[in-house]
Amino acid sequence: MADLSTSFLGISSPNPFWLASAPPTDKQYNVERAFRAGWGGVVWKTLGEAGPPVVNVNGPRYGAIHGGDRRLLGLNNIELITDRDLDTNLREIEAVKKAWPDRAMIVSLMVPCEEDAWKAILKRVETTGCDGVELNFGCPHGMSERGMGSAVGQVPEYIEMVARWCKQHSALPVIVKLTPNITDIRQPAEAARRGGADAVSLINTINSITAVDLDSFAPEPTIDGKGSHGGYCGPAVKPIALSMVSEIARNPATQGLPISGIGGVTTWRDAAEFIALGCGTVQVCTAAMTYGFHVVQEMITGLSNYMDEKGFSSIEAFRGRAVPNVTDWQHLNLRYVTKARIDQDLCIKCGRCHIACEDTSHQAITRQVDGRRHFEVIDAECVGCNLCVNVCPVEDCITMEAISGIDPRTGKPANDGYANWTTHPNNPSARPTEHALQFAPDAAE
Ligand SMILES: Cc1cc2nc3c(=O)[nH]c(=O)nc-3n(C[C@H](O)[C@H](O)[C@H](O)COP(=O)(O)O)c2cc1C
Ligand code: SF4
Ligand code: SF4
Repeated sequence: MADLSTSFLGISSPNPFWLASAPPTDKQYNVERAFRAGWGGVVWKTLGEAGPPVVNVNGPRYGAIHGGDRRLLGLNNIELITDRDLDTNLREIEAVKKAWPDRAMIVSLMVPCEEDAWKAILKRVETTGCDGVELNFGCPHGMSERGMGSAVGQVPEYIEMVARWCKQHSALPVIVKLTPNITDIRQPAEAARRGGADAVSLINTINSITAVDLDSFAPEPTIDGKGSHGGYCGPAVKPIALSMVSEIARNPATQGLPISGIGGVTTWRDAAEFIALGCGTVQVCTAAMTYGFHVVQEMITGLSNYMDEKGFSSIEAFRGRAVPNVTDWQHLNLRYVTKARIDQDLCIKCGRCHIACEDTSHQAITRQVDGRRHFEVIDAECVGCNLCVNVCPVEDCITMEAISGIDPRTGKPANDGYANWTTHPNNPSARPTEHALQFAPDAAE
């Protein structure tokens, strides 16, 4: 059976599934139950500096986007960092780590952007015996208005400065948690590395308003007639998280920087995708909040089965395998030609593919053949865009197939080698290389 154990920055855990810093990791009661359910580690709910704790709203703090079947796709929250006393949190962290020495215990921190404040909290946290700290530079609401959270995460110079303070004042491994509310995720990741951080984790939540109540004309969740933007997470944000992780994994300036992947992980597949893009661990919040702590069992079993099937004996055996396959658009093979194929046995004749292709793509799917309702791809029109696959309600009913010989649409050979935009004759900046020759003399359209 595959070995799921991980060593991330030298911190070992029996599996790569950590609970992200959030309500599931808010207290000893939760974390011990999570460990009993099988979680490999936790990032404790973000601690602030000593003194009176922050105060949360007393009305609704969550909004949500649901799919047609009421499945939760995206969660929005306006919760702050822990509103529990620092001493209580530290006492509980120490007790849990003592009782569960084989699980990863990371403590998330957010204090004002002053060296003394960071030095003070680090000294306190070190006494708990925890395995590392995560710097919360991501929270997009409430704390950011006080100059913390994403207000720091959006300024690479601050990230570098605080990471450096933390490395100077503590021997603990330092993970910098990044905000996605930024244009180029590579900048804060590079800053974290420059500051000496041992790893980055991403993503924190995305600025969002999930809905506007059309009676009260206030954003949801609504607190006494007003609302503010919150942080978006859950399955809906996974594509954004994967893209950001891949940017960091393939950026020469951050290559090899350990990454803990976060954002919409709900099943073992999601986790495996983050690992394939280079993550050493994954963190989960919304899935645990939606389905409970035992959701980790499916993740463990599923990942283990997948690894056995593929012959991967350890996480390291496939970690990062997808990174070399992430490239810029200009390097994609323009000679790769596919056509849609409809499985007539599976087709329920709903017509969605025809409408989508007819109205918004390339008029390449029939509606009637010989007077009968019949949906079939016209190869001479199909550009292989994949839209019909995505709108078809029946799984695997439409698939994309790479063709050989002459493409009936262009009259040119299909799938006979590799040539990309950098050498295409239509590209005014094309470089004359051996690939350019593959387009001549009958250049593609
Ligand atoms: C209610 C709630 C509270 C959160 N609080 C924190 C926090 O205190 N510190 C932090 O770093 N991230 C916090 N997060 C963000 C999560 O740790 C995580 O980055 C985000 O939810 C994305 O993961 P997910 O899609 O699995 O939920 C919070 C998220 C939620 C939903
Ligand atoms: S792949 Fe695109 S062009 Fe081809 S049939 Fe489907 S929707 Fe039409
Ligand atoms: S969308 Fe799918 S099921 Fe509906 S007609 Fe097209 S191929 Fe058939």
